[in-house]
Amino acid sequence: MTKDRVLSGMRPTGFMHIGHYHGALKNWVALQAKHECYYFVADWHALTSHYDDPRVIATSTYDMVTDWLAAGLDPNQCAIFLQSQLPQHAELTVLLGMITPLGWLERVPTYKEQQENLNEKDLTTYGFLGYPLMQAADILIYGAQHVPVGEDQVSHLEITREIARRFNHIYGREPGFEDKALAAVKKLGGKSAKQYEAMKTAYQQDGNAEALDAARALVAAAGSISAAEKEMLAAFLTGARKQVLTEPQALLTPTSKITGLDGRKMSKSYGNGIDLREAPASVEQKIKRMPTDPKRARRTDPGNPDDCPVFTLHQVYSSDATKAWVRQGCTTAGIGCLDCKQPVIEAVNTELAPMQARIKEIDARPGHVREVLGDGCARARRVAEATMQEVRHAMGLANL
Ligand code: TRP
Ligand code: SF4
Repeated sequence: MTKDRVLSGMRPTGFMHIGHYHGALKNWVALQAKHECYYFVADWHALTSHYDDPRVIATSTYDMVTDWLAAGLDPNQCAIFLQSQLPQHAELTVLLGMITPLGWLERVPTYKEQQENLNEKDLTTYGFLGYPLMQAADILIYGAQHVPVGEDQVSHLEITREIARRFNHIYGREPGFEDKALAAVKKLGGKSAKQYEAMKTAYQQDGNAEALDAARALVAAAGSISAAEKEMLAAFLTGARKQVLTEPQALLTPTSKITGLDGRKMSKSYGNGIDLREAPASVEQKIKRMPTDPKRARRTDPGNPDDCPVFTLHQVYSSDATKAWVRQGCTTAGIGCLDCKQPVIEAVNTELAPMQARIKEIDARPGHVREVLGDGCARARRVAEATMQEVRHAMGLANL
């Protein structure tokens, strides 16, 4: 059985913090054992907004990949690579650009939002408008079914699906498809074939979405046809012909509930994070200085954990028993905030210790990161190039 493909990427931001770990990396690590995973550094995406400050990209990439490995990504289980080492991503971006209406890109909510948030920068560039298109190419080139991302990336997944659908609609017409599909319907067997036809009609003529779901389930469960025929019958239902590009789904990572040391979202640009390579004494100092529920101005004032940034750390790091102890102690002023912070300090340091040991090992092996990336790139290239051959062919580019 072939495994589903998973793909995700991050712009190179250097050292990872515990928000990255609990918001994304931990999930990436869990997925690598079950799926065929591709994880990459989106260094071209970094240039869409930081084109005037390119010096940091190389070191940020190195540091970030080191932290990915320290967090548990295993190059034997997943491919880790750099976007800029795979020109196929750029080629697909160019080709998909031919069929992507400008309005689709202008309507992606992050386009206007980011222009406003980063208003000190001129982001009225072609590259910045094309950010989601390039992301679509990153995803579609691997035929990834699942893309683990946060809530903020959902609109990028939507436009990716729209572009894939448009591509399949325009270029997926294979001569003889209809005949082949009808032959596969026959092979479903009398009763199933009738049901399939009826449900297809219900969907195509009346837009009955339940009929579509039911027909898809019927096809998936059919024992009498091959995987390729199943794919064909699934495509036939929606009127699409051959499916060249796969529509991906977001695999929503519950946004990390950890707030930063100042109570805002943990973010590198706010400087309010705890890095994976934070020394134990520094972890202790940072958490001890963290603001708590303002109602607890004095030790004798009761507070509410739900209004306290420290409690967001307990949510991630503490057992139910510890959380109950916090709630009880906080609301009755039975414990002080320093008492409350102690188990979190210990838990963070316990979690980081093995990662920091791995960082030491990696630093002691010069060339290791480069080797990992070279190897990941080679694996990614095989898949990316295979997709490009189909895309070039579908778009009628000559292979003379
Ligand atoms: N836009 C993503 C982010 O800011 C990074 C990214 C680029 C990405 N290409 C991708 C994520 C493809 C998932 C899949 O985090
Ligand atoms: Fe926050 Fe804990 Fe202090 Fe309550 S006791 S305010 S949860 S640090």
